[in-house]
Amino acid sequence: MNNDIRFPANFLWGAATAAYQIEGAWNEDGKGESIWDRFVRRPGVIVDGSTGDVACDHYHRYVEDLDHMAALGLKAYRFSIAWPRIFPTGAGQPNQRGLDFYRRLIDGLHQRNIAPVATLYHWDLPQALEDRGGWTSRDTALRFAEYADYLFRQIGGEVALWATHNEPFIQAFYGYGNGENAPGKRLPWQVLKVVHHLLLSHGLAVSAFRAARPQPARADLPPPQIGIVLMLWPHYPASDHPADRNAAQRIDGVMNRLFLEPLFRRRYPADLMAHFARRLIFAPVKPGDMDSISQPIDFLGINTYTRLFHAFNWREPFLLAKQVPGPLPKTAMGWEIYPDCIIEALQKAREYTSIPLYITENGAAFDDPPPGPADQVVEDPDRVTYLRSHIAACQRALAAGFDLRGYFVWTLMDNFEWAKGLSKRFGIIYTDYATQRRVWKRSAHVYRDIIARNGL
Ligand code: FCB
Repeated sequence: MNNDIRFPANFLWGAATAAYQIEGAWNEDGKGESIWDRFVRRPGVIVDGSTGDVACDHYHRYVEDLDHMAALGLKAYRFSIAWPRIFPTGAGQPNQRGLDFYRRLIDGLHQRNIAPVATLYHWDLPQALEDRGGWTSRDTALRFAEYADYLFRQIGGEVALWATHNEPFIQAFYGYGNGENAPGKRLPWQVLKVVHHLLLSHGLAVSAFRAARPQPARADLPPPQIGIVLMLWPHYPASDHPADRNAAQRIDGVMNRLFLEPLFRRRYPADLMAHFARRLIFAPVKPGDMDSISQPIDFLGINTYTRLFHAFNWREPFLLAKQVPGPLPKTAMGWEIYPDCIIEALQKAREYTSIPLYITENGAAFDDPPPGPADQVVEDPDRVTYLRSHIAACQRALAAGFDLRGYFVWTLMDNFEWAKGLSKRFGIIYTDYATQRRVWKRSAHVYRDIIARNGL
């Protein structure tokens, strides 16, 4: 590898989290119920029976967490805002105490010279909106635009990068398709509707952002920007057989192109629309929607962790494809360790757009040992290797000319990993859920050194 290629001086080294995964305080300070608050109470849906009621208790411990970020030397911190803290029922009167929490968090970031990167929606819809159809209802997109507009006018200039959505694919296909995530609906024939409403809500929020024209909070800060965060994983056929190739093409279709094409080419992918139309499934597109969805954005965030292999399978009536394991060693999620996922995801994005790119999530779960009695560093050699190899891939991407502006490790500290509960640890900091102690893993030390050196 060419070690002479440096990371640019202003490269944004960051860490990422999401509101429901870390905050806890699920019913405090006027917060409304979210679909996750409701979903986790269904028996059997979370593997270890845990909830995000407390999670990392970050809502109360955010100052300590900010100090960890500063000690790591983070240049940026990516968090999400819980919609039901701001609008407890998804609409109507905003809840001042909810907004105040994010103001305190953002002020704390500015004091430590860490750029705030905020996601408006990381899957925690107000339950009151779900009761009226959730993302199957077009109305939810309109409510989202109001929520976004309110935030842009209140704190728009305090945030460096705004992302409308995190991984709309997962919200649509896991939340409303197979029901593995909140709201736990199994309505596969509705997913195109959900996808369209999520994308429309993105477009309406971008319009609100342009209209609000938020100005930087301080003269020395660049103007705030807006974009979206997509999951972009490379997809491979299990064999050279045409049926397997088509299966991989379909999954690349629903996971990647179903979002890239409307955002950057103003249309849904023709092959996929034909596949869905044969099942009498259509996207509820109204005049003007595609213009709204495809209006220019300032950056694209990419979450990438691995690659996947797919085989044709007729027992999967919806997509006729089944995932098969790849040959390489796996993380605790069963995900292959494949550093070129970074390059291939960037490549995929560059087929569609030349706007600046960020790796907004990358990281790995491993079965870490608990910290010793004196809180010695947690040794996590596999995660260290994972991070170093994926950061090396970022370096190769820069050398190859990709406009990569930052890298955010998933995640700052072990947290509530959705349906996997507290059982999967992705953090570079160990969370002891019994005491809420945070203990640095070796990977946190290594990441701090990488940031300090601005490279490997
Ligand atoms: C991504 C999610 C994030 C986390 C990681 C492991 O899909 O955006 O919240 O769960 O996976």
